[in-house]
Amino acid sequence: MTGARPSAAQRRSTTRRETRERWAEEISARAEAYWTAERIHGQLGDKDLMLPPNEAAPLLRALGLIKADASMSPSGVRKYMQINHMVKLLESVFVALARRAPVVRVLDAGCGSSHLTLLLAWCFEHRWRRSARILGVDRNAQIIERCRERAEMALLDDLLRYEASTIDELDLPAVWADAFDEKSPEPLVHALVALHACDTATDDALALAIDVGAELIAAAPCCQAELARRWAELDNADASGPFEPIWGAPHLRREVAATMTDALRTLLLRGCGYAVTPMEFVPSTHTPKNTLLRAVRVGGSAPEHFERYVVLREALGGADIALARSISADHRRALEEAERRCASPQGPYFSVATKVPDQGSGGGVSA
Ligand SMILES: C[S@@+](CC[C@H](N)C(=O)[O-])C[C@H]1O[C@@H](n2cnc3c(N)ncnc32)[C@H](O)[C@@H]1O
Repeated sequence: MTGARPSAAQRRSTTRRETRERWAEEISARAEAYWTAERIHGQLGDKDLMLPPNEAAPLLRALGLIKADASMSPSGVRKYMQINHMVKLLESVFVALARRAPVVRVLDAGCGSSHLTLLLAWCFEHRWRRSARILGVDRNAQIIERCRERAEMALLDDLLRYEASTIDELDLPAVWADAFDEKSPEPLVHALVALHACDTATDDALALAIDVGAELIAAAPCCQAELARRWAELDNADASGPFEPIWGAPHLRREVAATMTDALRTLLLRGCGYAVTPMEFVPSTHTPKNTLLRAVRVGGSAPEHFERYVVLREALGGADIALARSISADHRRALEEAERRCASPQGPYFSVATKVPDQGSGGGVSA
């Protein structure tokens, strides 16, 4: 007796896979011939390359970083160096995660064209040789369609799924169960990455990561406008405060608001039980948006950091950032308690303020 014959759909899927594998072999052979040691040295330097172009050709072609003849344009070289750097920075934490979890679950929030998503998938599959499931989410449905094609092209579609949704509306348990046929794993995701998710989308991503108890968060924020908008309003209203000279200067407002938003995010993340390292993740020649908030969950909550958040927020003009509004009810309650402590005469806000006369200013500082 013979086994069941494959269906037409199965035959089509097998043919597609074979075609892709042939394509991957061809581009790999071209890259092998093109990227001689001399060329790698001349164009990409001596730096430790996480994605040698002669080894990762199908991925680099799927990402549009090498051309059909396997060469790289100057802008391709810049982007290549950027993502090479990013993986290098995150490698040790992902490998540590993979040692503990048999299958590492990762969410890329605001994945865009999927550079980072694909890169991580490639590293799990070919460099770290560990099992992973990676979900990329973006509000742009067209981009998501293109991401799916790229994942297929790079032969990484086994471990990658994509979903078109805004981050704050994402029903992660349902989407995960549907995408990977895996119901309510614990934790839902081990790691959340968000590379240049626009404005408050970074806050939505951080809130989601905290909510699902992600062990690792790697977020490189982008174009923060929320706090700068608030400062422009304060300037228009002729408000006064320590940051007044910055409120009225658009360039300083944008620059300082971006840095202060990251400082406020850092304090909130710490309050929610994360050890946070804000760091430069690529040289500013690659992109000026080069701050990475790397956060590792230590558990519990740390109210003193919520107090520091309140103190800094008040000094900056009193406006909350989006993350403060979107953290879970428990953390929100802890933040409100910190606000009450700060508002009492014995609270930390007043103790910071009363330090000013000790420094010889001669005047009191009101809360
Ligand atoms: C600057 S791109 C960065 C894309 C990608 N992470 C990268 O670094 O190449 C920002 C992406 O975030 C997406 N985005 C912005 N706000 C979002 C939201 N609230 N929910 C989901 N995606 C969002 C945009 O559609 C866009 O693709």
